[in-house]
Amino acid sequence: MCGIVGYLGSKEAYPIILKGLKRLEYRGYDSAGIALINGKLNLYKKKGKVSNLEEFAKDYEKKSTIGIGHTRWATHGPPNDENAHPHLSGNGKLAVIHNGIIENYDSLKKELIKRGHKFQSDTDTEVLIHLIEDIQKNENLSLEEAVRVALNEVIGAYAIVILDQDNPDCLIAAKNSSPLVIGVGESEFFIASDASPIIEYTKNVIYLDDEQIAVLKKGEDIKILDIQNRSITPYIQELELNLEAIEKGGFEHFMLKEIYEQPTSIRNSMLGRLNPKNGKIVLGGIEEFESKFLNADRIIFVACGTSWHSALVGEYMIEDLARIPVEVEYASEFRYRNPIISEKDIVIAISQSGETADTLAALELAKKKGATIYGICNVVGSSIARATDAGSYTHAGPEIGVASTKAFTAQITIIALMALTLAKKKGSITKSRYQEIVSQLETIPQLVEKVLKTNDQIKYIADLFKDAHNFLYLGRGYNFPVALEGALKLKEISYIHAEGYPAAEMKHGPIALIDENMPVVAIATRKGSYQKVVSNIQEVKARNGKIIAIVTEGDVSVKEMADFSIEIPETDEFLDPLISVIPLQLLSYHIAVMRGCNVDQPRNLAKSVTVE
Ligand code: G6P
Repeated sequence: MCGIVGYLGSKEAYPIILKGLKRLEYRGYDSAGIALINGKLNLYKKKGKVSNLEEFAKDYEKKSTIGIGHTRWATHGPPNDENAHPHLSGNGKLAVIHNGIIENYDSLKKELIKRGHKFQSDTDTEVLIHLIEDIQKNENLSLEEAVRVALNEVIGAYAIVILDQDNPDCLIAAKNSSPLVIGVGESEFFIASDASPIIEYTKNVIYLDDEQIAVLKKGEDIKILDIQNRSITPYIQELELNLEAIEKGGFEHFMLKEIYEQPTSIRNSMLGRLNPKNGKIVLGGIEEFESKFLNADRIIFVACGTSWHSALVGEYMIEDLARIPVEVEYASEFRYRNPIISEKDIVIAISQSGETADTLAALELAKKKGATIYGICNVVGSSIARATDAGSYTHAGPEIGVASTKAFTAQITIIALMALTLAKKKGSITKSRYQEIVSQLETIPQLVEKVLKTNDQIKYIADLFKDAHNFLYLGRGYNFPVALEGALKLKEISYIHAEGYPAAEMKHGPIALIDENMPVVAIATRKGSYQKVVSNIQEVKARNGKIIAIVTEGDVSVKEMADFSIEIPETDEFLDPLISVIPLQLLSYHIAVMRGCNVDQPRNLAKSVTVE
């Protein structure tokens, strides 16, 4: 969480940093701030979104060619002007921006207070910059050296950039566990939490590794060292991202754009992997670790949020086709419960951002215990992708809306390819069943396009239910995780309480909530558990609940029972989640817009959760 941006060169720094912060706002939007040097260090910071900062700073002189900026997702201390970054050292000469958490900040702070330091904010970050200043002064060290010594005393996660009034041609950046990218231009440097603020200026980037420090000086080559003071040779890579992919392209919100991109993103996930001529699937990571996969005792998925829901779909898919036992774990629980892992386990981390702190820690733990580690990530070069033994990128393109949509369907597409390829290699699927699923998989992008045409009907239903206080989502089998995902989407962006449930479990609790005010979204496609879901719908109707049903084209029975029904095309049960989730994404989107909510940046949430 939190987005950081830095610039050093000969251009005006303020507009570059401001634009960068807007691109990183998905990482947090509790406050924003910028520090620039023009003779002296000038600080502008404000509670709320980057636009508040822009308004606040508009009449100030902001001329400068060096600066740092931050958009915050609050951890230590409430969102207010004081807690906004950048934070200053006691003498006001050093400024820092920080993404992460300094876990031992409290003991460091007590020590510094004893030594006379006074703090203006509640943040852990301010403690860090005071510590650096203290070391610099008391040990008579250069800033670079003081940063290095301070980072050896710090426990926790950080991506930081430091600006020094006395060194107006230098930025110092460092990272541990939180992401940080450095763009290398013609006599200029850019620093950011991801590549989106950098892309329009340069494609040459360096991803710092953990416990590395970069010293950037105007007119000089970048210098990288680690916190043990060993010199590191910079590795410059070329970015593949393009600017259009991170802009709204005529849609009102990123979320809507991303929902509509799904025919393309699903196609891209299969591209180069599924050969349409002969149905052959080649996933590089699986080929490389074929014998590990085929002899695995278990596959364990670790993930958070929407990615955890994809993992649940994955459990159904892989057990069903490849007959390998699968477990699905919340990364945050897995990492702290001393799990039993052996060398014959394969741990698959699923993460859109590839930066989720709990998921990263879960896979590091599994790695220590000897498991083979696989990643399903969207962001190329992300920390999780780099920490795995092998993996498959989802290739869904940048997802900016905080509520995940196209990443979900891309993850499921990859898992479907994995399940099919493993099943084929294990001989647990017949040739004809394999061919049947593969040919249907190829049609999914067209089917998604068809579902998107129900948008107006969904908008109409959204208008009728936008004031509901609660929603229940029911599904069975492959559509149970979709019910969870539908409920999560609604909660995230419209702030309506919603629960997803396996339809048959309803009678063990949620049924008590049903009355004429309870909308129930039932995924009742004509598949394995169709008749059972029909019975669950009857139970809801008997208690006057309102049914919004997702049904297969041409369905009659459920349509008669339901108050509203949305038809989706017929496909194989195995692939149903890829299309049944689309109406649920649209429903939550329209309800949120009608309730006046900020769809792309819902309150209290962040796209990338790089803290525990
Ligand atoms: C946050 C986001 C969710 C996302 C979850 C996991 O909570 O708001 O949309 O599903 O993190 O993120 P990841 O990047 O690991 O998939």
